[in-house]
Amino acid sequence: KTIYLKDYTPAPYLAKQINLSFNLLPGKTIVTSEVKYAKNPAGVSNDLVLDGEEQNILSVTLNGQRFDSYSVADGQMTLVNPGDEFTLTIISEIDPAANTALEGLYQSQGNYCTQCEAEGFRRITYYQDRPDVLSIFTVRVEADAKAYPVLLSNGNLQDSGSLPDGRHYTVWHDPFPKPCYLFALVAGDLVRVADTFTTMSGRKVDLHIYVRAGDEKQCDHAMESLKKSMKWDEEVYGREYQLDLFNIVAVSDFNMGAMENTSLNIFNTALVLAHQETATDSDFMSVEGVIGHEYFHNWTGNRVTCRDWFQLSLKEGFTVFRDQEFSADLNSRAVQRIDDVNGLRRLQFPEDGSPLAHSVQPDQFIEISNFYTKTIYEKGSELIRMQHTLLGGETFRKATDLYFDRYDGHAVTCDDFVLCMADASGRDLSQFFRWYKQAGTPTVQVSSQYDAAQQSYTLTFKQSQPDTPEQTSKQPLHIPVAVGLLDDSGKEILPTRVLEVTAREQTFTFADLPGRPVPSILRGFSAPVKLETDLSDDDLRLLQVHDTDGFNKWEAGQTLALRTIQRVMEKPETDISQFVADVGTLVEQGLAVQGDKALLARALSLPLLGVIAQHQAVVDPAAIDEARTAILKQIKSTHKDALAALYDANRNTGEFSITPEAMGRRALQHAVLDILTVTNGTGCAARSKAHYDAADNMTDRVTALACLSDSSQPQRAEVFADFYARFKNYPLVVDKWFSLQAIANREQIFDDLAMLRNHADFNIKNPNRVRSLYSAFAINNPVKFHDPSGNGYAFLRDVIIELNTINPQIAARMVTPLREWKRYTPALQAHMKAALEAILATPNLSGDVFEIVSKSLNA
Ligand code: ARG
Ligand code: ZN
Repeated sequence: KTIYLKDYTPAPYLAKQINLSFNLLPGKTIVTSEVKYAKNPAGVSNDLVLDGEEQNILSVTLNGQRFDSYSVADGQMTLVNPGDEFTLTIISEIDPAANTALEGLYQSQGNYCTQCEAEGFRRITYYQDRPDVLSIFTVRVEADAKAYPVLLSNGNLQDSGSLPDGRHYTVWHDPFPKPCYLFALVAGDLVRVADTFTTMSGRKVDLHIYVRAGDEKQCDHAMESLKKSMKWDEEVYGREYQLDLFNIVAVSDFNMGAMENTSLNIFNTALVLAHQETATDSDFMSVEGVIGHEYFHNWTGNRVTCRDWFQLSLKEGFTVFRDQEFSADLNSRAVQRIDDVNGLRRLQFPEDGSPLAHSVQPDQFIEISNFYTKTIYEKGSELIRMQHTLLGGETFRKATDLYFDRYDGHAVTCDDFVLCMADASGRDLSQFFRWYKQAGTPTVQVSSQYDAAQQSYTLTFKQSQPDTPEQTSKQPLHIPVAVGLLDDSGKEILPTRVLEVTAREQTFTFADLPGRPVPSILRGFSAPVKLETDLSDDDLRLLQVHDTDGFNKWEAGQTLALRTIQRVMEKPETDISQFVADVGTLVEQGLAVQGDKALLARALSLPLLGVIAQHQAVVDPAAIDEARTAILKQIKSTHKDALAALYDANRNTGEFSITPEAMGRRALQHAVLDILTVTNGTGCAARSKAHYDAADNMTDRVTALACLSDSSQPQRAEVFADFYARFKNYPLVVDKWFSLQAIANREQIFDDLAMLRNHADFNIKNPNRVRSLYSAFAINNPVKFHDPSGNGYAFLRDVIIELNTINPQIAARMVTPLREWKRYTPALQAHMKAALEAILATPNLSGDVFEIVSKSLNA
């Protein structure tokens, strides 16, 4: 069933207060919900319609009297005109142990936890499960004291005590009205890591992280990240935390990364636990970013929430922008931007060009779970970033102050957000709002002209928007393009200024230029567009060395690399010596000066296959990989000694640390090792093995394994076996062990995959483990996933069909790599289409999977 934004109407009833009581018993949980309802003056219906699924109703009471005149059908309970004000009590029974969908109340390794966003609350009790119904929650939890010593819910602890028969209870009260998707409950045998934070107004907040016994040594980084987040939100946005307690609970079975439930964030263990021996630098960065993300939701999501799920990006786009900026402030800004843009290009651009393309504020959906997408999150963040760029930092802050002031305690829309930006700046942002409504990645073409007689330089911009499903003839967008100019010696002669492109075609002229400048266009990737310029290779080489904008400096090198790869794909014998020599210059520079090593590491990495594919009309992954690898081999053979010297110069010395400098050094050494081991010969394997043997941290180990993964040398098996033996008791590390084998581009891969699927440690019910095998393969092993045999698609197809009944959300997500099937060669297309059709033909297909598969095929 499709739901439309245009059909929104306010809820018929307000929920003034809700008292929930959970009795956690063996084999079942009894939920009592007592809600004080009042007719909503803004409502348009008199019927109270409550959503409910997967539960048995034991009794319904209206104002204390047994009540039977309700009807239940299609997951909804309807009460016809129940009155202006009344109390409705519903007692129902649920079975958390049988809940493999991991939505609502479920069990993870014996402990109870919840996931209610977006529509999981209806699996707990009958309620108006929509984000614009805000209520004050009081929650009582009762359970066996020995098995579940920790009983948590949102807000402050109001009461607790022991009961007969070894049971105990707690009562929690959250004074801030909230939608039910922010409700959370945890009951389990967990240990607590405690700290405190003093807010800017001097209030002391208790910070607790709950994990399973044994994991408490891996919580320091998460705790530090939480304190940094709280401070950053005070400093950058003036936002203070208002409750006395902030809890984080880590669980192993979780569909997503984490969830921002008010004062009781629930996290995937993968985004809390981090220790040098078990977590990589990129894990440390993810923990910091996601701890920040969920904390920032306290204001952008919880205090100000969404009116309906079409507004999901209101909270997610803004919160991603906030976490990206948080990470940029704590680490290297340029590197953060490069990594974020790489992610956008690799994952969001393809989505925007696929049959599943949708706008940041969609008009319709079937299953909201399918809309937790790269478009809503990452493109949504780019939309906030553009508004920040257009307004400037100071005005943007005025606008967010206005936003929080105006809407605290309200459920609002993306339109309301942009209105605050417009009101605070006095600017007309109506054209800008098209970014929220038009799907697809725009293309911006720039041509330049220098007039020697006039000493003037003009840049002409042309923008175009592709058609996407149900959207044609799009309007031009309001695009901020940050531009700087360099002279032919590489000196910056015009610092960054933001050009506002609003027409289909528009010209900007720069006066008083004695010579033709080299333009640095779209600095910092100021808009999420595909840029096409008339810059020559020499212009790009100048920018690669001299641009003052770190992002564009890197971008110039990547564009040169892309051009080189494309030339090699067209004509394999093309002379690439200039490009290879330029890489040599970067290596020499890395040996001579101590610059930003993380940035150099990125400069030395060729664009990933997924990014290169964006530039191909018909995608042939094997052909791209062949060209890319050929170039890497030539870089290696030409600069072998210099590369080996750079590797040695960046060896691990002294104590392990996760400062940006230390991570940069490792990143650089790893980028070099990656090139040095590209030929997969005996020397390469020995090098990788030596790297592994010298490792005192997980980053170095994983790098060595990644460099050995494609190898057929004996060291491969030795190192993988050692790794497994060392870490078999650490599930998150076993995930890495699965992934590092799944990404192997080698002959036996399908035997490997079958072995991994049948491995004793594989568990179809654990999303992390499923992703570690299947997503790693389908996303990070493009050559073998797109194997001409079609075996890669069949492997994925089978797990989607298996997961369809176990965990529909995860099943639907697994379809992602198949949805762009039309972009591939005809032979690959046929296999991909067949896999999609087989999934569609599955009996009892869930709405989640049906939506993605049917939309993929219908385009
Ligand atoms: N709001 C969470 C976050 O972005 C994600 C929850 C998604 N849940 C889901 N069932 N799709 O931090
Ligand atoms: Zn979020």
